[in-house]
Amino acid sequence: MNESPAIRILNLARWTPSGDNTQPWRFEVIDDHRIVVHIQYAQEIGVYDLHGQNTLLAIGALLLTMELAATSEGCQMHAQHRPHVQGKLLAIDIRFSPEQTIQVDPLVSEIPRRAVQRRPLSMRRLTHSQKQSLQQAAGKNYTIYWIESLLQRLQMAKLILQTTRIRLRIPEAYPVHKSIIEWNAQYSLDRIPDAALGPGRINLKIMRAVLSSWERVQFLNRYMGAAWSTSLQLDAWTALSCGAHMIILRDQKPQTEDDFIECGKASQRVWLAATKLNLWQQPEMVIPSFARYVSENVKFTTLIDQLQEAASARKTLGELIGTDTDRVVWVGRVGFGPAPTARALRLPLEKLIISKPSGQPTI
Ligand SMILES: Cc1cc2nc3c(=O)[nH]c(=O)nc-3n(C[C@H](O)[C@H](O)[C@H](O)COP(=O)(O)O)c2cc1C
Repeated sequence: MNESPAIRILNLARWTPSGDNTQPWRFEVIDDHRIVVHIQYAQEIGVYDLHGQNTLLAIGALLLTMELAATSEGCQMHAQHRPHVQGKLLAIDIRFSPEQTIQVDPLVSEIPRRAVQRRPLSMRRLTHSQKQSLQQAAGKNYTIYWIESLLQRLQMAKLILQTTRIRLRIPEAYPVHKSIIEWNAQYSLDRIPDAALGPGRINLKIMRAVLSSWERVQFLNRYMGAAWSTSLQLDAWTALSCGAHMIILRDQKPQTEDDFIECGKASQRVWLAATKLNLWQQPEMVIPSFARYVSENVKFTTLIDQLQEAASARKTLGELIGTDTDRVVWVGRVGFGPAPTARALRLPLEKLIISKPSGQPTI
C-alpha cells in the first residue's frame, strides 16, 4: 500500500491538525497521482463551528500540508474545487505532477512533529528573528500581532476567562465537551485524550465527574457559581505561561470559503515554521469563533447573559488588538518547553480512504 506517491503523501497529510481532532476529510484515491478530498463538515463540534469555518481552516491546513508533502515526492500539487452541492464545497480534486525542479520543502520534516502543547510553557520571549520568520511563513496578506507584555498577557487571561465561563455555562457546549474527550487516555485516534488537556490530574477528575450529566453542570453553575469552575478556570493562568500569544490578522476580513481555506493554509505554515524553531503552540480558537458570532449576530446560545458575555469578550479582543476583530483568523499561545507527553493521534489511512461516494462524478 505504501508504494504510490499519493498514498505516501496522504500518510503524511493525515497529521494535519483539525478542531477537536475531527479530521473532517476523507480521501478517494483515483490513481498513483490523483485523489479527491471529500469534506465532512464536523457536526460533532456543534457550537464551536456553526458555519463550518473551523472545518474550512482545517481543510486549508490539509491542502498546505499535502502541497509540502508532495515536494518530498518531487511533485507539484494542483487543486481544483468541485462545484458546490447545496451551497457547500464538498470535494476538491487533487493532482500531483512530477516536476524535475522541485526541491523538498524544509517544513516537510515538521509535519508529524507538530502537536498541541496545552501545558504551561516557558515565558522566554521569542527573538526578533524568530518572530520575523513566523511572519514570513504567514505571508504577505497576514500580520502577526504579538501579545507579550505582562499587561497584555493579563488582558489575554481575562479574555480566556470570559470564553471559558461561557463554555462552561451554555448548554450547547455540553454535548461537545462530553463527546470530544477520550477519558483515561494518553492517545486517541479520533478525539482528544484527557491527558493532552491543560488541567492537572485532579481537575480532570472533577471535570469528568461534572461532565457526566448536564444537570450536574447546571447545579454547580447555579449553586456554587464561579467556585466549582475556579479550578478549571485556573486554566486561564496558563495564558501567562508562554513566550507570547500570536494573533494572526488577515488584511481583509475573510468572507468566502476560499478565504477561510487560504487562512487555514497560512496558519498551518506558521505552525510548522514554529515547530521548526522548537516552539509549541496551543490554539485558542474559541476567541475568534465567539467574536465572529457576535459580529454576525449569531445566537449561538439560548442564554442571553452569555450572549452578552460574548459581546464583552469581543470588546476585550478589539481593545487588545486595536483593529476590527473580524480580521482575526487565528489565535494561539506559543512558547518553548517540553514536548507533550500525551497527544491526539489520527485514524489510520485505511479508515480515511473511501470508495467514490455515490452521485459525485470523478473529473
Ligand atoms: C481550526 C482549529 C481550531 C482549533 N482550536 C483549538 C482550541 O481552541 N483549543 C485547543 O486546545 N486546540 C485547538 N485546536 C487543536 C486541535 O485540537 C488539535 O490540532 C487536534 O486535537 C489534533 O491534535 P495535534 O494538533 O496535537 O496533532 C484547533 C485546531 C484547528 C485546526
